[in-house]
Amino acid sequence: MSKHPEPERPQGAPQRKPVTLPQLAEMKRSGQPIVMVTAYDYPSAQVAEEAGVDIVLVGDSAAMTVLGYDSTVPVGMDEMVMLSAAVRRGLRTPLLVTDMPFGSYERSNEQAVENAQRLVKETGCDAVKIERGGASVDRARAIVRAGVPVMGHVGLTPQTATALGGFKAQGKTAERAAQIAEEALALQAAGCFAIVFEAVPAAITEALMPHMEVPVIGIGAGASTDGQVLVFHDLLGIFGGHTAKFVKRFADVRAEMVRGVSAYADEVRAGTFPGPEHIYSVDPAELSQFREWLDQESLSSGTFSHADWDWGP
Ligand code: KIV
Repeated sequence: MSKHPEPERPQGAPQRKPVTLPQLAEMKRSGQPIVMVTAYDYPSAQVAEEAGVDIVLVGDSAAMTVLGYDSTVPVGMDEMVMLSAAVRRGLRTPLLVTDMPFGSYERSNEQAVENAQRLVKETGCDAVKIERGGASVDRARAIVRAGVPVMGHVGLTPQTATALGGFKAQGKTAERAAQIAEEALALQAAGCFAIVFEAVPAAITEALMPHMEVPVIGIGAGASTDGQVLVFHDLLGIFGGHTAKFVKRFADVRAEMVRGVSAYADEVRAGTFPGPEHIYSVDPAELSQFREWLDQESLSSGTFSHADWDWGP
């Protein structure tokens, strides 16, 4: 593999300063949309860097998009640490948020603080994200008090999708919408610096937005939020499975990847790859000396050693 280059900047573009929490708050105040995307490895982080997004989330959606599980539930702390550390190496500018996986924060505030601090210490992420209201509000408050910024997540919370009736829109009744509002307001009061609204009817989000003092990042929550987030593999068309109604495909990278790997396989099978431009040369004198060494008697008797051979001056 080639040596990793520094994350690139588009030619002539000024070096951007790392995105900060006050900057995100200011973007909300001034109405400047916040762009967030997920990333799970070094190259996807580099893409997010070069594209100039504001926040990168190492989502536990990695469980489905890169690890092949059928929900986000099985992914654990060790996997999130590895993925987040790889993303950190590819990022310079966007704020880096890492999802706390299911089972890493629910049991107690102590467990939540310990795992949040582990993510920050071992991966260099700037903040963590946790799902739901209820007990998660206490966990958020404890993590913030321990010095780690927290992003909340309400509406469709994939870690507990089964309890919510599956991967479907939330807040479609007035009562459920009120629950989501209460959760968002409680997370805001607990000190979350931003909150994700997932799969919430646009009109419900719009009604709630005037009550939100921290940036709200929407995914399937309409256009009135302060920012948008999409899953990297969904927006680029890398993920082959089902995608939600709120996903817009901005590219069809999977088709291009399949095309590239098929072309490679075809050329290997046809003997046209590697071509002369892909091979290393050797000095003809060295080659003929090597051939002479190969031809010696002792090679076939199994008693050879290249150290016993006279290689000349
Ligand atoms: O895990 C994830 O990718 C997420 C986003 C959908 C917000 O939580």
